[in-house]
Amino acid sequence: MSRLVVVSNRVALPGSNQNGGLAVALDAALRDSGGLWFGWSGKVAREHSGEVHEEHHEGIDYVTVDLSREDYEGHYNGFSNRTLWPLLHFRLDLVDYNVGTQAAYRGVNALFAEKLAKRLRDDDIVWVHDYHLLPLAQELRKRGVRARIGFFLHVPFPSADIVAGLPNHEQTFGALVAYDLVGFQTERDLERFQDYMRLFGGGEVQGRGEVRGQDGRQVRADAFPIGIDTAALESLASRSGRIAAIRRVHSSLNGRMLALGVDRLDYSKGLPERFRAFERFLEKYTKLHGSLTYLQIAPVSRGGVASYRALRRELEQFAGHINGGHAHPDWTPVRYVNRTYPHATLTGLYRLARIGLITPLRDGMNLVAKEYVAAQDPADPGALVLSIFAGAARELDGALLVNPFDSDGVADAIAAAAKMPLEERRERWQSMITRLRDYDIHAWRKDFLRALAETQR
Ligand code: G6P
Repeated sequence: MSRLVVVSNRVALPGSNQNGGLAVALDAALRDSGGLWFGWSGKVAREHSGEVHEEHHEGIDYVTVDLSREDYEGHYNGFSNRTLWPLLHFRLDLVDYNVGTQAAYRGVNALFAEKLAKRLRDDDIVWVHDYHLLPLAQELRKRGVRARIGFFLHVPFPSADIVAGLPNHEQTFGALVAYDLVGFQTERDLERFQDYMRLFGGGEVQGRGEVRGQDGRQVRADAFPIGIDTAALESLASRSGRIAAIRRVHSSLNGRMLALGVDRLDYSKGLPERFRAFERFLEKYTKLHGSLTYLQIAPVSRGGVASYRALRRELEQFAGHINGGHAHPDWTPVRYVNRTYPHATLTGLYRLARIGLITPLRDGMNLVAKEYVAAQDPADPGALVLSIFAGAARELDGALLVNPFDSDGVADAIAAAAKMPLEERRERWQSMITRLRDYDIHAWRKDFLRALAETQR
């Protein structure tokens, strides 16, 4: 069995409490193959980048690299989150392009490649994750690495014309052909990647998922919609009623329905648009006043980037505005919370919520939508209101699909969800949970790794 080597900007170091989806997906495969997880240490060094930390835990090697303040600013806050993130989420208007941060991005990828290359063997399987590391394979190949290298993009791949709006886009996106396999969340992302390669990337598309780059190198591309650990989530949710915090929230509702949104505080999540839609709902459906409370959990994210700080201020005002206009002494329509919660507590909140309100303007997949479905009580499941622009909308056909820019449409969907009879909720939920059980995060990992192992060399 080949050793699995995972590379991602954030590494779920043992004991770090970062047991996100990726760790769940990859843990067993890393352990079984004596694997290696490589990435940023999460530390900003006083002087230079490059100090390496190694630890070994339960059969897995963790190798992480410190970044200097300058590299952290240039690579993470700069090119990754001020340039690529908005670009990939279709927001050319927010793209801040700067040759300095682009150079830092390249530099950090080169540094990672330098530290990683010497640890790699030809028969390793290397799996690189997300937009912080687009040119990593190219940098590894420059250093003589011959192992199979796959890449998975967790976020959307935007329209070709948007990518082409980025100055020097070929340097970053053309570099994808150095991989053996490039994976996307949905078929649409795959199509848009192929369009880009054909129209602006100097490549040739020879068939679905068969792309030849400018240098003649052949790369395979395919869609692998990421899933969740459905069985584990269902079982966690069924026990969540015992959590004291969940009981307190339950009793604080006083029998009212709960509508719930859980999102990082990010402009791609469509939070101001969602607040506006909720305000429309309050204006249009006065009879439902007092029967429903909307809880929005929005942990603060990427505070080093100005657009995120501005969004935070906007939402604080907006929540106050809605409550000021509609609340009663014994009813607050919006509860707005910036705190983070343990996964078990979130799961309990999902189960408590009669309505899941997930309306991103763009989202690669959105695992909250999937977790919301998996956490429901099969006897009395809630209804999901989901944006058509979340990758998850392709699979969750039992959701009420909405255009997040259409506040009237979203308001109507909230009302429809609030009034939806039990039988319809059960039917819709059944079709969604079946999909989530059939294609969970373990199936996703196996699919990707099988496709990578089968690439022609
Ligand atoms: C998204 C990205 C991930 C990223 C996460 C949290 O899900 O696809 O790569 O790790 O957001 O963002 P952060 O900037 O805190 O790592």
